Amino acid sequence: MPPHAAEGLALIKASVRGQPAYTLDAPAARRKLNQNESPFDFPPELKQEVADAIARQPWQRYPEFAPADVLAALAKHYDWVAEGVLVGNGSNELIQATLSVTLGSGDVVVAPSPTFSLYRLLTAVMGGHYVPVPLDEQFDFDVDRLIEVANQQRARVIVLNSPNNPTGSALPEGAVQRILAGTEALIICDEAYQDFGGPSAVPLLPHSSRLVVLRTFSKALGLAGLRFGLALAHPAVAREIAKGKLPYNVNLVTLAAARTALRHAPVLTARIRQVTDIRDRFVERLALVPGLTVYPTAANFVLVRCRSVPAKELFRRLLDEFGILVRDVSASPQLSECLRISVGTEEDMDAVIIALQQMLGQHVPSR
Ligand SMILES: Cc1ncc(COP(=O)(O)O)c(C=O)c1O
Repeated sequence: MPPHAAEGLALIKASVRGQPAYTLDAPAARRKLNQNESPFDFPPELKQEVADAIARQPWQRYPEFAPADVLAALAKHYDWVAEGVLVGNGSNELIQATLSVTLGSGDVVVAPSPTFSLYRLLTAVMGGHYVPVPLDEQFDFDVDRLIEVANQQRARVIVLNSPNNPTGSALPEGAVQRILAGTEALIICDEAYQDFGGPSAVPLLPHSSRLVVLRTFSKALGLAGLRFGLALAHPAVAREIAKGKLPYNVNLVTLAAARTALRHAPVLTARIRQVTDIRDRFVERLALVPGLTVYPTAANFVLVRCRSVPAKELFRRLLDEFGILVRDVSASPQLSECLRISVGTEEDMDAVIIALQQMLGQHVPSR
């Protein structure tokens, strides 16, 4: 039996104890539409290329400290300079590293709300103060209000996730320029879903050293299981963020997979179009299901509000009766009765439509 926890817990920061953990209750399901992953596995011939590459490497050696070829390939891919690229064990690690080198006790982070919950948790872990700025009723970004709040609160960091998880809404064109011009904060643009739509802040990198853009290979490129993300920033800022990450944070298997993904980028990026086509057809058909409000999305997931049946009930029935696992996001006050559905294969989306049709009534034409 473990001893009483009180003594140990007394030494954990109150700001951390006050936060809910980032957890995921993910029961096994036939159709997994809860984590915004790619519906398409990494192609077998590319897996083989990765396997061959790692079989040739010595595993008793650490991976490269700064993998020059990968940094150069990423710089080329994103049209930025290699000295301004940092790689991470998923982009989450680089959110953490960036906040760890910027935030001191009480420093303010401003972010739209609702958004990815990790920003709030990591801010609390770093001892910072998190100030959410609500999205509007349609979940669009209120750019003026973001600037106003950031200035009122003397925000040190603004985190913008576009397209935004879990709403799918994207920042309007020109918004990041306006926020850079209107505030003095470091702007972290988390573009985990930008491959699927909405403007990118990458072209702004030559214009500001207060911009950090995060990208990931977890979503569009189908490598969530290997954990690879990157940060793009001014080289001097990137050097400082690097101090907040652990050495050898990306293992040699992941580096090999990243090399292969970059070498075959056209094969992988062609699949993005497939996902967005499936998404657009799905959204059209969802809109015909009675009792649902469907929010516009630029990402590989769709947020819906259930007007006639409690979201929790719909979530449970989708899983139990149809083997479809989606994300129940209804605990957040702004998202009451909302579910987030990742875009899967055509068959997955057909199954969702059929299930919703059966539960909520009324016929929806087939595709
Ligand atoms: C907004 C956002 N950023 C980052 C991530 C995580 O990306 P990675 O797998 O690169 O750590 C996610 C994953 O769900 C996300 O939704």
